[in-house]
Amino acid sequence: MNSSSPRTSAPDEIELVIDAVGGHGDGVATTDQGKVFVPFTVPGDRVRARLGMKGKEGTPAVLLEVMAAGAHRIAPPCAHFGACGGCDLQQWHAAEALDWKRAQVVATLRQRGLDAPVEPVVATLPGERRRARLSVRRDAEVVEVGFRARGSHAIIDVASCALLDPALGALLAPLRKLTSDVLQRREEVAVELTLTDSGIDLLFERSHEPTPAQRSAWAKFATTNRVARISWRADSEGEPELLAKLQQPAMTFGGISVELPPGTFLQASATAEAALVAEVVAAAGKARRVLDLYSGCGTFALPLLQRASVHALEGSAAAVAALKKAAGARLTVEQRDLERRPLQKDELKKVDFVVLDPPRAGARAQSEALAASAVPVIAYVSCNPATFARDARTLVDGGYALSRVVPVDQFLWSAHVELVGIFQKSPNGRRGR
Ligand SMILES: C[S@@+](CC[C@H](N)C(=O)[O-])C[C@H]1O[C@@H](n2cnc3c(N)ncnc32)[C@H](O)[C@@H]1O
Repeated sequence: MNSSSPRTSAPDEIELVIDAVGGHGDGVATTDQGKVFVPFTVPGDRVRARLGMKGKEGTPAVLLEVMAAGAHRIAPPCAHFGACGGCDLQQWHAAEALDWKRAQVVATLRQRGLDAPVEPVVATLPGERRRARLSVRRDAEVVEVGFRARGSHAIIDVASCALLDPALGALLAPLRKLTSDVLQRREEVAVELTLTDSGIDLLFERSHEPTPAQRSAWAKFATTNRVARISWRADSEGEPELLAKLQQPAMTFGGISVELPPGTFLQASATAEAALVAEVVAAAGKARRVLDLYSGCGTFALPLLQRASVHALEGSAAAVAALKKAAGARLTVEQRDLERRPLQKDELKKVDFVVLDPPRAGARAQSEALAASAVPVIAYVSCNPATFARDARTLVDGGYALSRVVPVDQFLWSAHVELVGIFQKSPNGRRGR
C-alpha cells in the first residue's frame, strides 16, 4: 500500500508520497488501497507515517517523519505546530495554501452544479486574530492554557501563539498565573478573548459560581493586566455575569461605536472584516432600502447606513439591544429567529438589497424565501462554503445569478475558508448559473 516503493519498519508504518491536500487540510497520498490522510504534510512530501483504522473516506495516518520535503514546504513559524490543534497549514507556503482555499470554494460550488467566478483569496496575516477561545486547566500543580490537541480533549499549553494579536498573546502568561490562583484542582474552564477598540474583553465559562475570593482574584487580574472587562457564565447558552469592568468594550462599525455585550460575535480579524464590508457596501451600490439578516452588532448594517436606511434582524437579544442603543433614525432593529421565522416574500417587497451572514449551518429556510423574492441584489457572507453552496443553489434555482465570489482567509493556517457571494436577480427571473 504505497504510492512509491514500500519500505516499512513496523506493520502499520509506511512510506508515502503526498500528492494533494484534502478538504480538511491533511495531505493525501493515493495508494492501491485508497487514500491515506497525513496531517501537516504538503504535496511532494515523502513521509513515513503510521496508519490508523481505515474509514469510509480513506485511512488516517500519523506523520512520523518527513524524509524529503515537497517544493512548497516551509518551516512552521510556531513551536507548538503539530501538537496544538489550532493550526493545520503552517508547513505550507502561504501562496499555495491560499490557492488551495480558492480551489476548495470552486470545488464546493461545482458539487452543487455552480460555476461562478471565484476571485483570489483575501489573505490575513499572523498576529491579526482579535478573537479566540482557549481552554484553561489546573491539574494538581500543572496549569495548561491553550488550544486543544487535534482530535483530542488534551490541552496543549502554549507559551505564545503566532496567530493572536500581540495584546491577546501577552495575556497567556498572566492567565496561567490566574489559573493556578483561581481554579480548583482538576478544574477546566473555557475563556473567550476579544480585543475591542477599548481593550480586552474576557468571558470565562465554568460550571460553578465563583467564590468571593475568586471574584476578587479576577477583579485584581483585570486591574493588574488592564483588561477592560471580565465576565463569567455557566455555559455557552448561559447569561454572562460581570466580574470586573474597567472600560466598556466597544467597536466602531461605519464610524458608529457599539457597546459590545460579553461573548458577542465579532469577525475574528480586522482585515477580513474590512474585506467583507467593502464587498457588501460595493454590492449595495445605490440601494436605499436595505435588510441586514443575522446582523450581530452591526458589522454590515452600520457601514451601509451611510447611503441607505437599514432594517437589521438578529436572534441574540443582547446583540439587538447593543445595536438599538447605537442606532440612529435610519436604522431599525428587530429580534427574530430567522431559522424558525424567516422573512417571507411579502416582507421582502420594496427591498433593494439584502445582506445575510448566518452561522455555519447556513440559512436554508431564509434562502428559500429570498429565492422567491424580487430583491435585485443579495450579498451572502458565509463561514461555511458547504452550506453556502447549498443555499446558493436554492437562490440560483429561484432566478438569481451568482456573479462574484470572494473567499477570505479569516482563519489563517486552518482549513477554514470564509467568503462573500453576490447574487443578482436575472432579468425576468430566469434561472441563473
Ligand atoms: C456569523 S455571525 C454574523 C454577525 C454579523 N453579521 C457580523 O458580521 O458581526 C451570525 C449571527 O447570527 C445570529 N444568529 C444565529 N442563529 C440565528 C437565528 N436562528 N436567527 C437570527 N439570528 C441568528 C448570531 O447571534 C450571530 O450574531
